[in-house]
Amino acid sequence: MKVFLTGPSGFVGTEVARLLLLQGHSVVGLARSEARAEGLRKSGIEPVLGELCHFDVLARAAATADAVIHTAFFHTGDYEEGSKLACTAVRAITEALTGSGKPFIMSSGTDILGDTGLAPVSEEFPVDPHHSTRPTSRVLCEREALVAAGKGVRAMVLRLPPYVWGNGDGFCPLLHIQAAHKLGRAYYILPGTQKTCGVHVEDLARLYLLALEKGTAGSIYHATASSDYTAREVGEAVGANAGVPAEGISQEDAHRRSIWPDWAIDLFALNNAASSAKAQKDLGWTNLKTGMLQDIAANSQAELVCPSWERHRMSRSLRGLAQTASRALISTQHASGHQQQRFAGDLPYKANKYVESWGTNREHIELTYKFDRDNLWIIAKWVVAFPTLLPHAEAQTSASV
Ligand SMILES: NC(=O)c1ccc[n+]([C@@H]2O[C@H](COP(=O)([O-])OP(=O)(O)OC[C@H]3O[C@@H](n4cnc5c(N)ncnc54)[C@H](OP(=O)(O)O)[C@@H]3O)[C@@H](O)[C@H]2O)c1
Repeated sequence: MKVFLTGPSGFVGTEVARLLLLQGHSVVGLARSEARAEGLRKSGIEPVLGELCHFDVLARAAATADAVIHTAFFHTGDYEEGSKLACTAVRAITEALTGSGKPFIMSSGTDILGDTGLAPVSEEFPVDPHHSTRPTSRVLCEREALVAAGKGVRAMVLRLPPYVWGNGDGFCPLLHIQAAHKLGRAYYILPGTQKTCGVHVEDLARLYLLALEKGTAGSIYHATASSDYTAREVGEAVGANAGVPAEGISQEDAHRRSIWPDWAIDLFALNNAASSAKAQKDLGWTNLKTGMLQDIAANSQAELVCPSWERHRMSRSLRGLAQTASRALISTQHASGHQQQRFAGDLPYKANKYVESWGTNREHIELTYKFDRDNLWIIAKWVVAFPTLLPHAEAQTSASV
């Protein structure tokens, strides 16, 4: 099957793409820069250049694929804005698929459930888009996707839990860990007994593929492996990782001190417990990993293998040097054994020193390129002291050309 995947360079999308390829599918991935496109090619993914706001690109790629999986999300800092853009992108994709019977899988979140109470709720739990504790645009985006199920699209929604973890990565685990390092405390919102849910990214990727294979039109599936973690337990695991004490804080004080983004404070103040019984029964999604707390607590070391250097034939010009540097692969090896590789990206060819902050919200690496006519030095330095990386903060390589 030829699958059009948005967000193939993201945490979730990378794993989904890896599994799709492993199972013999071909993947066309949305890339918003040539550097990303180059990285995708290296992984066996055919890139299509474009952004979520390029509706014609999305529509064309969807129409020429056998299935679409949507994992991209534009993090502007304003969650509502990002969800609004996602909503129009979903409309463009599903309109292009109308009447085709092709599968379309949209990524949503259990955050739209708002306060669930302690017991895990099913997909039938009512969701009011205008309730103050819910992200309105994300709810409307889900509805946009499901409308397509009535128009001849096998449209489905996967609701991801706040804690997607694994491979030394995951947005919320790293959000907590970074904050704990900065504040010297691993905070959790009081009373600390509120429940939250999580899933390992590899199990999550398996669910996308199961839904692709046998999910039914109009279905919502909760993608949770466990809803049994309390806010306090998460705080304690984060504290163990960061080597700082865990401490409860009121929701008001958390906002006043801006310990995390507002949406995260409000989400972690609630019970967010969602049952995946439906996905397990209907799709055969089993053998789920639940050791999130141990993983967060233990995953405090990883090895820096950065940067690796690829020699290329090139002209003895600064331009040639900069172009070669753009193709340099930067590798990070996490404690779990997971290895991430990314390209340095497009560099200007202005000598003599260029500093770029490279990465995403998970990897903050400052790369300094220094070059003269004969040598190029790449110095990698962690801007944010991620606990998932070894303490040695600097690596240097040089090459004569
Ligand atoms: N991870 C979680 O814990 C979690 C929890 C609940 C829900 N979700 C949802 O699951 C989905 C995937 O999450 P994730 O953690 O994989 O996100 P992520 O790691 O931040 O990846 C986002 C992906 O979207 C791409 N992207 C961002 N803005 C774009 C734009 N304007 N046009 C085209 N592509 C764009 C990024 O490309 P670049 O590589 O170029 O930046 C990247 O490939 C999102 O919808 C997220 O809200 C995630």
